[in-house]
Amino acid sequence: MYSNRTTLKVLVVVTGLVIGVISIIYTELLVGELRQREYDQIDFFAKVQAKMATMSGQDNADVTFLLMEVIKGNDLIPVILADEHQNPISSKNIEIPKRFSQEEQLAFLRKQIIEMEKDYKPIKIDFSNGEEQYIYYADSHLVKNLRYAPLVQISLFGILAIAAYLVFSTSRRAEQNQVWAGLAKETAHQLGTPISSLVAWIEYFKTDDDFDHSIIEELEKDVHRLEMITARFSNIGSEPVLKPKNLEPSVRGAVDYMSKRISNKVKMSVEYDIDSQVQINISRPLFEWVIENLCRNAVDAMNGVGSIDIKMSLTQHKNTAVIDVKDSGKGIPKNKIKKVFSPGFTTKKRGWGLGLTLVKRIVEEYHGGKIFILESIPGEGTTFRIMMPIVV
Ligand SMILES: Nc1ncnc2c1ncn2[C@@H]1O[C@H](COP(=O)(O)OP(=O)(O)O)[C@@H](O)[C@H]1O
Ligand SMILES: [Mg+2]
Repeated sequence: MYSNRTTLKVLVVVTGLVIGVISIIYTELLVGELRQREYDQIDFFAKVQAKMATMSGQDNADVTFLLMEVIKGNDLIPVILADEHQNPISSKNIEIPKRFSQEEQLAFLRKQIIEMEKDYKPIKIDFSNGEEQYIYYADSHLVKNLRYAPLVQISLFGILAIAAYLVFSTSRRAEQNQVWAGLAKETAHQLGTPISSLVAWIEYFKTDDDFDHSIIEELEKDVHRLEMITARFSNIGSEPVLKPKNLEPSVRGAVDYMSKRISNKVKMSVEYDIDSQVQINISRPLFEWVIENLCRNAVDAMNGVGSIDIKMSLTQHKNTAVIDVKDSGKGIPKNKIKKVFSPGFTTKKRGWGLGLTLVKRIVEEYHGGKIFILESIPGEGTTFRIMMPIVV
């Protein structure tokens, strides 16, 4: 599931690029054709102009008429007719500011000629009397604007892709949340009945003096654990109730529970370096779950031997509690650090890759805190850091 999503993203990006490239190539072809047509038109204009000079009388008048039609027909291509010294004679489709004086207009057109010359060689008109004129021209607005078409297309495609991604991912996430929160609540609900029945049975056995009471104690511990699990599922399935509490008991509770269930070659230590009056809004069942999950991962990252050190302190400004969970496990490779909190990411044969996803959700969404990897050195160990706002 995890790698599929990456492939899909790559696919969308590649498709976008291909569409972009095709669109650029296609537009370039169109621009090329249009340019050729524009050139042909100017060229025709030049030929007619040259021809005219050799004619006289009625012929000349006819051709002048024709020429006027050609010029009028060209309402796109900016052209300037000039003599051999680049003195403008007339212009068409060039916007000259109206307030300009005669002098200024000429200067303006000269400047245009210099610009036009950079892009296209002017078309020469040879008059039979040895006189020469030149037609300077530039790309029409149509051609110029058309060149921006691929940019517009690509931007629109990009905006569309981002919008679609946002809409789909938020709606998908909302749906996923609903499914697993519902599932958690339902599980908690279903566990409720058999647990209360177990509690009733224990009470019943307590009244029976023939029954071995040391068994009852063990049974009570197991039922207590089941109740704890139910509380976690029910808490994560709905908005949990946060209560101002001292952090220490929750962390120590989780550590005590874990330390009894792991190899005694894994040493666990807890250091509490916060004023005992400082309180934090927490849901205890969920917060213990966080610590248990982090410790479980730490143990998994070791070969049965090592240490887990938990240190609680306040930040400099004393408004945030910091909980560092440091292990001496195998560490996390750099390229995996970003992924560990993603659902489904696991490197374990029998892992689900949900532990850290839950941890992140509990810390950040339910408690308004932050969790991240402070440091991880392959072969040396990892430190997860949790930061929680304190109650003032
Ligand atoms: N303390 C740690 N040391 C090394 N790797 C870790 C540690 N915690 C988590 N990881 C890595 O992150 C992955 C995801 O952890 P998690 O979400 O708890 O899922 P799971 O434990 O089911 O694999 C683990 O498979 C492991 O590769
Ligand atoms: Mg885990």
